[in-house]
Amino acid sequence: MICERSGAKLNLTLDVTGRLPGGYHAVRSVMQGTDLCDELCIEPGAGEWQAPSNLRYLPSGGTNLAVRAALLFREETGLGPAGGVIRLKKNIPVCGGLGGGSGNAAAVLRALNRESGAGLTAAELRALAEKLGSDVPFCVTGGTMLAEGRGEVLTPLPPLPDCGIVVCRPDFSSSTPELFAALDRQKLRVHPDTEGVLRALEAGDLEGVARRCFNVFEAALSRRPAGLVAETKSALLDLGALGACMSGTGSAVFGIFADAVSAASAHAALTERGVTAFLCGPAQAAAIL
Ligand code: C5P
Repeated sequence: MICERSGAKLNLTLDVTGRLPGGYHAVRSVMQGTDLCDELCIEPGAGEWQAPSNLRYLPSGGTNLAVRAALLFREETGLGPAGGVIRLKKNIPVCGGLGGGSGNAAAVLRALNRESGAGLTAAELRALAEKLGSDVPFCVTGGTMLAEGRGEVLTPLPPLPDCGIVVCRPDFSSSTPELFAALDRQKLRVHPDTEGVLRALEAGDLEGVARRCFNVFEAALSRRPAGLVAETKSALLDLGALGACMSGTGSAVFGIFADAVSAASAHAALTERGVTAFLCGPAQAAAIL
């Protein structure tokens, strides 16, 4: 049995800068890995791959990204088991813009790469990961990175300084393709200050990063989701967050706090109000072998 953890990602900034061939959009995003983790264990076996999880409504067959990762690894390397079971313990809220499924897929690639002796480098694993989705290459190592292109062109950045993070999940679901389409219908006037975030990371200036967190997709939300995101951001800021923003295409909203203690007290206050919130911190890039 091979076990691996996969962390949620956050988009500290998310900008859409143009269109790419094939229906994709060019993005520019400062991405951050966290220690809010799913856990998965791979049991090699004889039958077809299955990925059961603690969430019964998730598909466990060939459409599950973790299964697709296991099939792809075998197809591309000729190594690794032909089938088996991938047991998923989902702690990361699903469909939240937190890259949970992408992280699971990347964790399967890492685990099979290590255990099969394939010994692919991070760059080689990312080339596989790209075939599974735009966020999967980042999830191969996590850390702090500038993602460009579809999301697969990655530049490592200085790590986000130590801090506490609270993630909330406002009650709406959003479809990534639909939100990209909604963005196409409007003229984007405001963009994140990505350069400012890069400078702040270089200077180790947490406040400078946090106050520049910005996601263009917030402007593409319809009225009710937009209201819920605004409400959640205000709640996080009122509880002391240095900055708050939606991640990916939502619905997750995160707040960055000066330290783990202030994040924990904001988390406790939200929980007391009946709000489901997740307490976590930044995770540095993981070694793959
Ligand atoms: O790559 P992934 O499967 O995560 O993308 C899901 C959908 O999101 C794509 O089919 C596309 O409609 C949209 N997308 C995009 N540009 C990106 C990433 C995703 O248009 N850079």
